Amino acid sequence: MLPVNRKVLTLDEFTIQQLRDVPNATGELSSLLRDIGLAAKRVNVEVNKAGLVDILGDAGSVNIQGEDVKKLDIFANDQFTGVLQHGISCAGIASEELDEYIAFDDPISRNSKYVCLFDPLDGSGNIDVNISIGTIFGVYRRVTEKGQLANQDDFLQPGTQQVAAGYIIYGSSTMMVYATRRGVNGFTLDQSIGEFTLSHPDIKCPDFGNIYSVNHGNFYRYGQGVKEYITACQKKDKSNGGPYTQRYIGSMVADVHRNLIKGGIFMYPGTTDKPKGKLRLLYECNPFAFILAVAGGRATDGHQRILDIKPTELHQRTPMFIGSKGMMDELETYL
Ligand code: AHG
Ligand code: MN
Ligand code: MN
Repeated sequence: MLPVNRKVLTLDEFTIQQLRDVPNATGELSSLLRDIGLAAKRVNVEVNKAGLVDILGDAGSVNIQGEDVKKLDIFANDQFTGVLQHGISCAGIASEELDEYIAFDDPISRNSKYVCLFDPLDGSGNIDVNISIGTIFGVYRRVTEKGQLANQDDFLQPGTQQVAAGYIIYGSSTMMVYATRRGVNGFTLDQSIGEFTLSHPDIKCPDFGNIYSVNHGNFYRYGQGVKEYITACQKKDKSNGGPYTQRYIGSMVADVHRNLIKGGIFMYPGTTDKPKGKLRLLYECNPFAFILAVAGGRATDGHQRILDIKPTELHQRTPMFIGSKGMMDELETYL
């Protein structure tokens, strides 16, 4: 065989290579990840011209291709739903943008192995001000028989059952990061060839960092333990692992991505007016809890592992604390 001197692997090459060591692998997961990569590329194009949407669309908000100009989170939702529906691996989806799950009703989908749950555009409040946003997804093996329509049982599985989870960050570069039980790997979109290429192999979350991320505006509505922990973060100095720095973008994807790479802790606690906080267990918390767990970090709701929560409804919310293992250990002494 000719020696191939290739420095970078594309997402497809990487996922297919991973299959080599898995006996009886069907390639369905690789195919699903490729579909997600394709939708991500389409969303990336739209995100990059977000400021132009009103210019490209006419007053009746129809763009030059004659399509209605849609809000970007609806556009993203349609893209991810569309590729998964037309793919060969996904029996159904649930999305933060849809009231109900969708079971794909065609012969290939009914015989597919996986369901996918996603937040098509996370941090969408940041679109208009040119701040990083993202997409978050979790993939589960269906529990219903192949051949049937997927049903609620397939979607209401605890996060620990995920076979893969990941996110796309539309930032200063566009990246897709995904985890399986074997590891977390990051791919940067090479715009020149339109491919995600492996740029961050085998990501591990440092056990400690010096970043804490929380919405300080809610401080007086947090519980006592959370307030005390935040105050302790502010008081850190050289003598006890500090000083800490506070970073909070308001796009969970961007905040947790940074903390995953650099080490840190991200919190969205319950408040007196919203005891379950804001984040959605199925679309936001479970995928990140899975990714961080594989990378060596941890996530809890303050009482139990996020991944162990048995969901009872699609859009349920949960308080969320996630990050470097050592920092999570310290946080828990306050909760
Ligand atoms: P979404 O745009 O999908 O609704 O999610 C936004 C989320 C999350 O990304 C972010 O961390 C959080 O909302 C910010 O909320 P606050 O403005 O309440 O801090
Ligand atoms: Mn979100
Ligand atoms: Mn969203």
